[in-house]
Amino acid sequence: MQDPIASNQDAAANLNLAPLWMPFTHNRLFKQHPRMVVQADGMYYTTADGRQLLDGLSGLWCSNAGHRHPKIVEAVKAQLDRLDFAPPFQTGHDKGFELAAALTSATGHGFEHVFFTNSGSEAVDTALKIALAYHKTRGDAGRFRFIGRARGYHGVGFGGISVGGMVANRKAFASALIPGVDHLPHTHDLSQMAFSRGQPTWGGHLAEELERLVQLHDASTIAAVIVEPMQGSAGVLVPPLGYLERLREICTRHGILLIFDEVITGFGRIGPMFSADRFGVVPDIITFAKGITSGVIPLGGALVQKGIYDTFMTGPDHLVEFFHGYTYSGHPLACAAGLAALEVYRSEDLFGRSAALAPVLEAAIHSLRGEPHVIDIRNCGMAAAVELESRPGAVSQRAMDIFHYCFDHGAMVRYTGEIIVLGPALTISETQITQLVELLRQALKAVP
Ligand SMILES: Cc1ncc(COP(=O)(O)O)c(C=O)c1O
Repeated sequence: MQDPIASNQDAAANLNLAPLWMPFTHNRLFKQHPRMVVQADGMYYTTADGRQLLDGLSGLWCSNAGHRHPKIVEAVKAQLDRLDFAPPFQTGHDKGFELAAALTSATGHGFEHVFFTNSGSEAVDTALKIALAYHKTRGDAGRFRFIGRARGYHGVGFGGISVGGMVANRKAFASALIPGVDHLPHTHDLSQMAFSRGQPTWGGHLAEELERLVQLHDASTIAAVIVEPMQGSAGVLVPPLGYLERLREICTRHGILLIFDEVITGFGRIGPMFSADRFGVVPDIITFAKGITSGVIPLGGALVQKGIYDTFMTGPDHLVEFFHGYTYSGHPLACAAGLAALEVYRSEDLFGRSAALAPVLEAAIHSLRGEPHVIDIRNCGMAAAVELESRPGAVSQRAMDIFHYCFDHGAMVRYTGEIIVLGPALTISETQITQLVELLRQALKAVP
């Protein structure tokens, strides 16, 4: 076999890599050792040097129906032949309304309206703005605070990084973070919950911290609490039993909106469509993106409870009710992709498949316990993580080496800090789960 690192570099040799400033990437290291993909089909990427890579992360938590699903590809092509674009302000097109109807009816739980964006970051900023404007419209303008959570990831807009709890994403922008934001502690404590399968039994009490923040700031100043039901980008931090329920109770008691950021957890990642049907907790607003189109065209949005939408629908009919929106809110191609993706999820019962495969992934990933450097393993639905001990003075280098090893030997995984993360498409087979985890085992043994 040709050395994969050298052959990938050969394949990238005719490209000028310098002009592209890559997002969330160590640009200089990447450009010295480029790892490129040129095609994707189902569960696999093809690398620039012609190798097949099993995709262990559904693209970036988005290609939940696998890559280039023929029905989604066909729907996008058909849409492109008919209507490429229509302004979303003061004009409508059929696919936008059809997707809104399909999505709200599939979501249920009183989520009767949806506002479309292009990304998860925009979905979060939209949700925060809806929350502020909602309280103001109700005559409760004193509610301006948001409560996020440590280690939370809500995208990269100024709203998202303000309520988010990733230090690296915030510290350079500290002077411009939105005011009045406080944070709950995260729920991850290895001394209490290492190697938990599914929801940890310890940690539900940490939701009481919200009550403390309410006492500190007074409920009348707090607009919304925003959390990811399962913290994905922080490395699959699974909500402790009872935690989300407790947050819901406290929010309801104090008139605070509860926003679930389901950009990762949505569309079957943890079983059903959204967390309400997994954890039995219904928020007031759901933000989503990624899986809505199975990653084929960017699309995101905020689903809101009927009462929130209705609050805005007052005043003279000819006035705009909410001064917010994007040129590409509900882009026709994105909506066509979304409609097709929802139909694929339904007709192939991919959410049922996710629920059925979750125990297989759980058993496979926990079989890595005892392998070198492994200090925790956790899982929730079709998401799993292996946390490693760091090399002294070199946080995240071991995980990075494992990511590179996997790429060079046949699989795409992800790493964040010292955590290896898996979140394969819901179409993965049991054999492929075994292959993915066995490659990870090989990597753990091989990487010092
Ligand atoms: C929970 C959550 N919210 C928001 C985002 C941001 O989404 P995007 O990268 O589409 O802006 C992400 C991305 O991973 C996410 O996981």
